Amino acid sequence: MTISDENRRLEESDKKYLWHPFTQMKDWLEEKPVIISEGRDCFIKDVYGRWYLDAVSSMWVNIHGHKKKEIDDAIKEQIDRISHSTLLGSSNVPAIKLAEKLINIIQGSRGQGVKGSSKIKPLKPRTLETSNPVVLSKVFYSDNGSTSVEIALKMSFQYWIHRGVEGKHSFLSLKNAYHGDTLGAVSVGGIDIFHKTFRPLLFKTYNAPSPYCYKCEHGETCPECSLACLGEMENILRQHSNEIAAVIIEPLVQAAGGMVVYPQGYLKGVRDLCTKYNVLMIADEVATGFGRTGKMFACEHEDVTPDIMCLSKGITGGYLPLAVTIATDEIYNAFLGEFKELKTFFHGHSYTGNPLACAAALACLDIFEKDETLKNLKPKIEVLERWLKEISELPHVGDARNKGLMAGVELVKDKNTKEPYAWEEKIGWKAAYHARDNGVLLRPLGNVIVIMPPLSISIENLKQMLNVIKDVIVAVT
Ligand SMILES: Cc1ncc(COP(=O)(O)O)c(C=O)c1O
Repeated sequence: MTISDENRRLEESDKKYLWHPFTQMKDWLEEKPVIISEGRDCFIKDVYGRWYLDAVSSMWVNIHGHKKKEIDDAIKEQIDRISHSTLLGSSNVPAIKLAEKLINIIQGSRGQGVKGSSKIKPLKPRTLETSNPVVLSKVFYSDNGSTSVEIALKMSFQYWIHRGVEGKHSFLSLKNAYHGDTLGAVSVGGIDIFHKTFRPLLFKTYNAPSPYCYKCEHGETCPECSLACLGEMENILRQHSNEIAAVIIEPLVQAAGGMVVYPQGYLKGVRDLCTKYNVLMIADEVATGFGRTGKMFACEHEDVTPDIMCLSKGITGGYLPLAVTIATDEIYNAFLGEFKELKTFFHGHSYTGNPLACAAALACLDIFEKDETLKNLKPKIEVLERWLKEISELPHVGDARNKGLMAGVELVKDKNTKEPYAWEEKIGWKAAYHARDNGVLLRPLGNVIVIMPPLSISIENLKQMLNVIKDVIVAVT
């Protein structure tokens, strides 16, 4: 069989046997699929031998590039020992080491065996005098961002039960939020296109406005608004905090909501409200964690420590599925009790704490230190910001925003009125197809072009990618 016969067979089999996520399969069946067979650094190659710049880090997961030797070696070494054993009733070496390393990074401890962890700035404890400092200290493993969120929701709900506080059966989340696709995560989601259909199946939540300054629902401008969106969150908490177990929030950036970047002080304001009204704060750092925003965790930008933190995506450098939900001792201690008291957290997955994934994550964290990943981001962020400023002058670019190396370019039909392109115009996808023809792999969010390359991208490749994207925007608009 020739290579082209083999590729044709792959295409046919893909269309015959696969159902792709977040994909209208009718369109897919009419298109020529990109089938990836190889990767190196920030590039991926399809079966026809074409290389693409991976501008969205293979769905926001890749950090240090593809085929990174240290991660490859760590996984191979772990395979030679054992690939999987369960955390239910036993433990495993990489899971223990990774939990320790994560906690040391988060707490900024210089604990033994944590090489150079002082380079990564610690998260600071919360500051309201009324409360004890919050210290994240216990790691609960799962496999993906959605499950890390499910766990955070169940954990916070059960925490209040154990504390003897009744009635906290709901959550406060943001409009335009995205926390994953399992039903608990969808319940706290706020993107109608994805979530509305499932509403009859979901539990009740309270929804505060999204701090989406470009499309402020109060029609205000920041900072003159004095964060009116935060004021509305406070109104909800004032009336309903006795029903609310936790506020869940994507810190600093609503990622799937269109790379919406929060105004300064908003996140800190949410932390203070949670403390003031005695509800837990869940920071879903699934998209923002591991350097994407320019710091290890987005919460660091405003010196915020949540009560629960969810991490996934970049944790393994984009190699293997892994997630953690990290809680404070205060939460963990509430679950301690006699066996017969049934205070146990009855939750767990078959692949929880998978040794291969944990070994990959340990290698990924080592590379942050060895390659000084965070320090090296600064000039790249500057290049990106200069470019965003430049393209915001284009007639159909409504808003061009970023936090670190997470950026969104919102295309609009009419810049003056901010009228969006209609969904069926598929403007984002037109841009993505065009970019693909020019060697850049994008995945848009509606009318927003997402730019989120691996953190290891070189300045040269970054500039090359941005040039292509600019040309594409001009061409499709
Ligand atoms: C903030 C946030 N939370 C949760 C998730 C869900 O993660 P996963 O797709 O791994 O389930 C995502 C995915 O994009 C996300 O951006």
